[in-house]
Amino acid sequence: MRLTVIGTGYLGATHAACMAELGHEVLGVDVEPDRIAALRSGRLPFYEPGLDELVAKHVASGRLRFTTSYEEAAAFADVHFSCVGTPQRADGDGADLRYVDAVVETLAPFLERPALVVGKSTVPVGTAARLSARLAELAPAGAAARLAWNPEFLREGYAVEDTLRPDRLVFGIDPATPETESLLREVYATPLAEGVPVVVTDFPTAELVKTAANAFLATKISFINAMAEVCEATDADVTELSRALSFDTRIGGRFLNAGVGFGGGCLPKDIRAFRARAEELGAGPALAFLGEVDAINLRRRDRVVALAEELCGDELSGCRVAVWGAAFKPESDDIRDSPALDVAARLRRRGALVSVHDPKALDNARKRHPELDYATGALEAAQDADLVVHLTEWAEYRALDPKAVAEVVATPRLIDGRNALDTTAWRAAGWTVRPLGRP
Ligand code: UGA
Repeated sequence: MRLTVIGTGYLGATHAACMAELGHEVLGVDVEPDRIAALRSGRLPFYEPGLDELVAKHVASGRLRFTTSYEEAAAFADVHFSCVGTPQRADGDGADLRYVDAVVETLAPFLERPALVVGKSTVPVGTAARLSARLAELAPAGAAARLAWNPEFLREGYAVEDTLRPDRLVFGIDPATPETESLLREVYATPLAEGVPVVVTDFPTAELVKTAANAFLATKISFINAMAEVCEATDADVTELSRALSFDTRIGGRFLNAGVGFGGGCLPKDIRAFRARAEELGAGPALAFLGEVDAINLRRRDRVVALAEELCGDELSGCRVAVWGAAFKPESDDIRDSPALDVAARLRRRGALVSVHDPKALDNARKRHPELDYATGALEAAQDADLVVHLTEWAEYRALDPKAVAEVVATPRLIDGRNALDTTAWRAAGWTVRPLGRP
């Protein structure tokens, strides 16, 4: 099929390359000429394992092209995926829908033939119905310009795999246009033939599946981090607690790793927007608990700063701190709402001399926080440090020899903000180790 993918960020670039991999002819659309120029030469503006190869492969095969022209997009295909961002509003907790709205406002006037616009962004419930009406109003094709909602569940770091082999597909369809379902089934013929389950539903349910999934994941992480707080008050061990809980198949062990908490471009802003939307709808009390989920999450960052003060003495001023990790999670260079970078910046504000290392996110981190020092290696960051703080669990940090690191620091003191390092081995090498939620 011929498809366009509008918006070439994490979601759109991945979706475009994966649709080409599934055999479709794809035109990626973005309003940023620099981004389009880079993509045309097979270069990605961010790090995502396996994606640069896939983009380069299909740029070369001719199945993946890029443009800044909506007019060209409308002429090229009759199925258009909208993959633009929905960041948090600058003036509150709700979602900023300007980009989602702009796609419909810009594309619709060019839709002269019957067409399907498929929303993939995470949006407040009720957005699809509103966009559907606006599309029919603006398109020369009128009501033959249709909308469907097909939320995306990919994880950064696994984006290609999650898009090619999703654990489920959700199609939000307007009951008045059931034929849009067959178009979507055609787009996803390969994963459907491989047995990927599909839930066909209405617009509001499809929109809610996405926000509910992220709210559940955030709640699961904050649940175990709340347990970590209780463990800290009783000298219990949250990692053993979590392991014991994980054997109950009703609970499961995934997303039960206690640490400095969740960040990124999705979970934090999605739970805030979900709560704000529920309040608008008069269902505020149903999601009031998400405020607590957010608060527990942010308290973990306070805890790391408090531990640093405890270890370095009340006065952090002049204390040399190495921070390992800047990305919000490993296998990503994304620093949006990164707990690691936030803690690094807070330590700096308290007067510490902070040297940050990250295998992929240094350039992004430097742009956001030029006041921090950056090191190109984990050992270099740790040179003469009074304290090492481990905040993003890259495999490279687990592979370090605690004895070798002890030789370069001033004092062997470590906070493991991800409970990912082997505390026994680090202690045996002479380190004072303070994990989160563990004695
Ligand atoms: C998240 C969801 O997992 C995806 O399903 C969803 O599609 C995506 O948001 C989105 O809405 O686009 P992502 O933001 O890539 O994906 O990252 P996650 O793997 O969910 O991790 C989020 C944060 O939680 C990270 O900071 C991670 O370090 C933290 N986390 C995760 C924990 O602190 N503990 C855990 O046990 C798991």
